[in-house]
Amino acid sequence: MDRDIDKILISSEELQAKVRAIGAQIANDYAPLGDLLLVGVLKGCMMFMVDLARAIPMPLAIDFIATSSYGHSTASSGVVRLLKDLDTDIAGRHVLIVEDIIDSGLTLEYLRSQLLRRNPASLRICSLLNKPDRRVTNVPVDYLGFDIPNEFVVGYGLDYGEHYRNLPYIGVLKQEIYAE
Ligand code: IMP
Ligand code: MG
Repeated sequence: MDRDIDKILISSEELQAKVRAIGAQIANDYAPLGDLLLVGVLKGCMMFMVDLARAIPMPLAIDFIATSSYGHSTASSGVVRLLKDLDTDIAGRHVLIVEDIIDSGLTLEYLRSQLLRRNPASLRICSLLNKPDRRVTNVPVDYLGFDIPNEFVVGYGLDYGEHYRNLPYIGVLKQEIYAE
């Protein structure tokens, strides 16, 4: 698995330190509101979501939503579909979307417009990673881990064709892996 990785972009230690910092910031902002519903975008959010939830020292609820993925491609098709909806009625709730990475921004723009229609008390976005060069939409990111260059990354929940999610770090995939 590791031999398919070109270089480690963000180490496990750096990830943990950043997640702790974001968790503290979120708790600071939401504790006075007395409500927080984390909405993880499956499946890429998985590692970030569980670590982040444990880093937020206040009562919170968790739900998940799933959108169509890239499959085996490394570029977005631009078409987003909802594969799994929330179990929770979010009307009047303080909702925080938890994403692994923002690339074009199309997934988040779609999710944001869908969830806003349901009248949450507030809706914010938290993403571990961001590729600013690739953005084609104007989605606001309220909590961000790291800006990264325009390279295809895997690990810590992020996959290529469902592989590499269990790597403890964020790494750049060797080009030869997805070039063929
Ligand atoms: P967007 O709609 O283009 O912003 O794409 C967002 C989704 O594409 C993310 O939630 C990821 O699941 C996936 N994605 C984008 N870039 C990468 C990457 O470098 N590695 C793995 N998945 C990625
Ligand atoms: Mg994702």
